[in-house]
This record gives sequence, C-alpha cells and structure tokens, in this order.
Amino acid sequence: MIEELDFAQASQDDRHGLYEVVAAWVVEDGREPPLYEACVARWENRDELGFEASRFMVAREAGTIIGYVQVQVSEAEANAHLALATVVVLPEHRRRGIGTALLGSMRSLLAGQTVIESWSVVEGTPAEQFAAARGFRVVTSMTRQKLVLGELPEVGALPPGYELVTWNGAAPDELVEAFVEGLNAMADAPFGETALDDAHNTVESIRQAEAEAVADRWVVLLLHKGEVAGVTVVERNSVDTTVAEQLHTVVLPAHRGKGLGRLIKASMLHNLTGVERIFTRTSSENEHMLRVNHSLGYQDLYIYKAVQAKTADLQP
Ligand SMILES: CC(C)(COP(=O)(O)OP(=O)(O)OC[C@H]1O[C@@H](n2cnc3c(N)ncnc32)[C@H](O)[C@@H]1OP(=O)(O)O)[C@@H](O)C(=O)NCCC(=O)NCCS
Repeated sequence: MIEELDFAQASQDDRHGLYEVVAAWVVEDGREPPLYEACVARWENRDELGFEASRFMVAREAGTIIGYVQVQVSEAEANAHLALATVVVLPEHRRRGIGTALLGSMRSLLAGQTVIESWSVVEGTPAEQFAAARGFRVVTSMTRQKLVLGELPEVGALPPGYELVTWNGAAPDELVEAFVEGLNAMADAPFGETALDDAHNTVESIRQAEAEAVADRWVVLLLHKGEVAGVTVVERNSVDTTVAEQLHTVVLPAHRGKGLGRLIKASMLHNLTGVERIFTRTSSENEHMLRVNHSLGYQDLYIYKAVQAKTADLQP
C-alpha cells in the first residue's frame, strides 16, 4: 500500500519508521548514520537552497513503513520547474517493484514541476542501476568530503587591496548586497547539466532565510576595494553542534588564480567555535576546489551522482 504521509501530523511510530528506513540505507552504504533529530530538522525545514519542507509518499507492509519517496519543491521562480526526489526501500524489500511504485506515486505531490532530480545516487550502489532502469540520466557527479578539525591551517597574507569580513548570523545591512552578489556568482561553478538554479538569491530571500534559520551560520566575505571578490558559508548542524557543513564557496572570476579560495576557507576554519568535524560537497569535475579542500585536510568520502528525468516520462 502506498499513501501520503504528512510528516508534521505523523505519529511518533511513523516518524521513527521513516527514520529507520533512511538509517538502514546510510549504514548499508558505510556512511555515518544521521541522528534522528537531525533528520527531523532537515525534513521539517526549508533547505539552504530554498526548497520547502519535505513531502512523503510511503509504502507500508502490515502498517510498518518499508519505503518512501521524499519530494521537495521550491517556491522560488528560478526552481519552479524542478522537484527533488529521493526513493528509499528497506534492503529486505527490494527488487519487488516498490521503488518503482514509489517513484510513480510522487506525481500526486507535484504541482506542475516538469523535471525531477535526485541528488543522492551514491556511486557503486543499486541506486545507479535503479535510476538507469527508470530512465534517469546522470547530470553531474559530486564528491563528499570530511575534515576533522585539529591544528588549524595558516590563513596566509592577503594580497594588497583585499579585506576579509566575517560574521555569524545575519549579514550586516551594509554588506548584505555584496553577500548576495557573491552567492549568486555560484552560477558559474561546474554542476553539469543540472536544472537546479543555485544563484537566485536576493536581499529579501537572504533576510527570510536568516529569520527562519534553525542553525548557526558563519560567513567570510572577501572584499576588494569595497567590492565583493569572494564568499564562503558554513552552517553548524542544529542538532549535533560539533558538526558543520561547508556550503557555498566562490571567488569571483576577476580574482581567481591568487590562492584566495583557499585563503577564505582557511580563514573560515578559525571562526568555528565548538566544531570538530566539517563535511562538504564539491563537483567531482571541480579539480581546483577539490585540491583546495585536500590542502586544508579534507578527505574524500564517496562520490554521488545527480540524476534527472522529465516528469512526463515517469512510469505510472
Ligand atoms: C534504489 C532503490 C530505491 C530501488 O528500490 P527497489 O524497490 O529495489 O526498486 P525496483 O524493485 O522498483 O527496481 C526497478 C528496477 O531497477 C533496477 N534495479 C534496482 N535495484 C537493482 C540492483 N540491485 N541491481 C541491478 N538492477 C537493479 C532493475 O532494473 C529493477 O527492475 P527488475 O527488478 O525488474 O530487474 C533501493 O535499492 C534503495 O532503497 N537503495 C538505497 C536508497 C538509494 O540509494 N536511493 C537513492 C536513489 S533516489
């Protein structure tokens, strides 16, 4: 039986049932299992790209959740065409068509989104064959990395004319426009042929995200003669406060090739009070950023792919 599960209204049993399914998958792939509260926080809130809280269709057997499809859509015009989806089936219930049925059932959660992407197809797992069998094509490949914070790397000297500004929480009024401009320069980071627009921030959207934020955020902004030259953002995990996610990092084209990407990331590491481990994701094609991260001590964990299909091509 497949039916919608409204997570906000769901029973404790169903909330935990959903968690059991995701935890089984993560452990199976040899990754660190997420905390229950961290999953709940992620499912209940808008994400850092502005996608709304998750909606779910679940498959049950004798009442117990044995699989789900998680769907996220965005109200931002730039991503209005796109639905993000993740399908997970408990290992002992696979190869019985449940994944396919869940994927088909997600149509009822859509409101006109014409493209579906999944960003959680881990290389070397059944998800690759499943995605291919269901007509999805690979649009990009990402490398997940982890840094255990020990001795902090040296930041190095800033070239003349540059200045670093750091804050925690909301952007100062006089810098918010420069911050938005810096974030939107992510548009030319290599992300393959994804339909995802990561560069549609406005002062209003940033202020809204700051007002709704459940997690601590740090920003390092690089200025050159008062104009934005680069930016990097780190977000503390709202549940396990010793863990953080290194999000967007960008150096604007005119300022590349001077080691400034490494410099702003190294500088960031000096701000993160209480953080012991940081995770990040970078396009596997972005050799430069991968190299910067390795030089800061990040280690590669695994590769995952983003896959894409047209909603119209979903099997019923
Ligand atoms: C990917 C996943 C959801 C597939 O669920 P499922 O219920 O086994 O999928 P289905 O039974 O509908 O499989 C459909 C087709 O996909 C392909 N497929 C699925 N698993 C496969 C495997 N292990 N090896 C080869 N092909 C596979 C087959 O073509 C299969 O059809 P067939 O069984 O008639 O040969 C499941 O393996 C899973 O939960 N993996 C962990 C979660 C995950 O990685 N999700 C990310 C993807 S969004």
